[in-house]
Amino acid sequence: MANKIVVGTQWGDEGKGKVTNMLARKADLVVRYSGGNNAGHTVVIDDNKFELHLIPSGILYPDKPNILGNGVVIDPQALVEEMEGLEERGINLDNLYISEIAHVVMPYHRLLDRLEEERKGAGKIGTTGKGIGPVYTDKIARRGIRMIELLDEEQFTRKLEESLDYHNTVLEKVYGVQPLDIEEIKAEYRSSIEKIRPHIINTAILIEEACRENKEIFFEGAQGTLLDIDFGTYPYVTSSNPTAGGVCTGAGIGPTEIDEVIGVTKAYQTRVGEGPFPTEQKNKIGEYLREKGHEYGVTTGRPRRCGWLDIPLLKHAVRVNGLTEIALTKLDVLTGLAELLVCTSYQKDGENIAEYPACAQDIKPVYQEFSGWEEDISSIREYSNLPVNARHYLESIEEMVGVPIRIIGVGPGREEAINKD
Ligand code: IMP
Repeated sequence: MANKIVVGTQWGDEGKGKVTNMLARKADLVVRYSGGNNAGHTVVIDDNKFELHLIPSGILYPDKPNILGNGVVIDPQALVEEMEGLEERGINLDNLYISEIAHVVMPYHRLLDRLEEERKGAGKIGTTGKGIGPVYTDKIARRGIRMIELLDEEQFTRKLEESLDYHNTVLEKVYGVQPLDIEEIKAEYRSSIEKIRPHIINTAILIEEACRENKEIFFEGAQGTLLDIDFGTYPYVTSSNPTAGGVCTGAGIGPTEIDEVIGVTKAYQTRVGEGPFPTEQKNKIGEYLREKGHEYGVTTGRPRRCGWLDIPLLKHAVRVNGLTEIALTKLDVLTGLAELLVCTSYQKDGENIAEYPACAQDIKPVYQEFSGWEEDISSIREYSNLPVNARHYLESIEEMVGVPIRIIGVGPGREEAINKD
């Protein structure tokens, strides 16, 4: 059985939820390993649309264990809300497992996220406001609170007192706002903990058992490579490692257990929040992609910035994730455009640059043109039935990045895809 990772190769929102949901059908276990409820995964099954933020999309298959690994940061209120929303729609959550050593998002994390963005003003990151940067900061600074500590009132109180002592000083002295009240926080967390308690375990053991029994594990990435704290467009990134390497530290599995890494790539490029985007189209093309592709954030509702596919950035994602294949989504959104552009390199000060530079100021994309297609492709399930120009577009991408495209999304539904396997 092959253990697979699904990662986003761009700035998130590549359609990982749909691809995971398609591929998770065969998996025995589905695991999330990084990020928190800053993520937003949309899965459409028949006429039902599910928007998930924390819980892996594999939960939509009954009886499949789904894990929130230790690398995920968990806002208990947001988790309970999501759990209740799924239960109301008849989804069984008995198979949801949460790592006891995953870190907890606290109210001061959300508050600090907002205050820091306000302080930065025009230089803000454009975060989702879910407290992600501050919770990972606390984890690294060794003052975080883990799920296991939530379970024990005494331990939780002690940890919270220590943490609040630090954070209230920062809130008052750095940001000039009122300190937070410990009793209010405790009351808020007490109300969600009982719902979550039965799900909290040592998830690394479950993963180890699955490996030993030769079961297939599916690791579901959140965000995307270009938002990775190390390999993304720093500092306009998230505070975790959504890249494939994050699986080992974020789930508790050795690299020798990983067999395949599938890079989910949108047929064009989008980004929410601030930061560089060399191929961005602030024009009719960008608007066309946004409206046709419904490019509005699942988590924040913000309109996404849209542009042409960027090959040097995709090659970077191939390299740092060790991609074995690509799932290309939303090809149907390009239908109707007479001409498609793909960025193949950049220009800076009159010189051609093949790779995306670590300091990307003032680079200009160099484009290759492709002819578009008019035919509706949403009902096509066989690769050979795609219009010749669509196949040329796909095969050119494969050639440029050196990785095969095995899945092609032609519509939002789970079944609306061409699977070359
Ligand atoms: P944070 O993760 O909320 O700290 O936000 C940091 C950056 O990552 C911002 O530009 C966000 O818009 C972006 N971001 C975080 N999560 C996602 C996601 O799931 N999809 C797309 N962008 C995201």
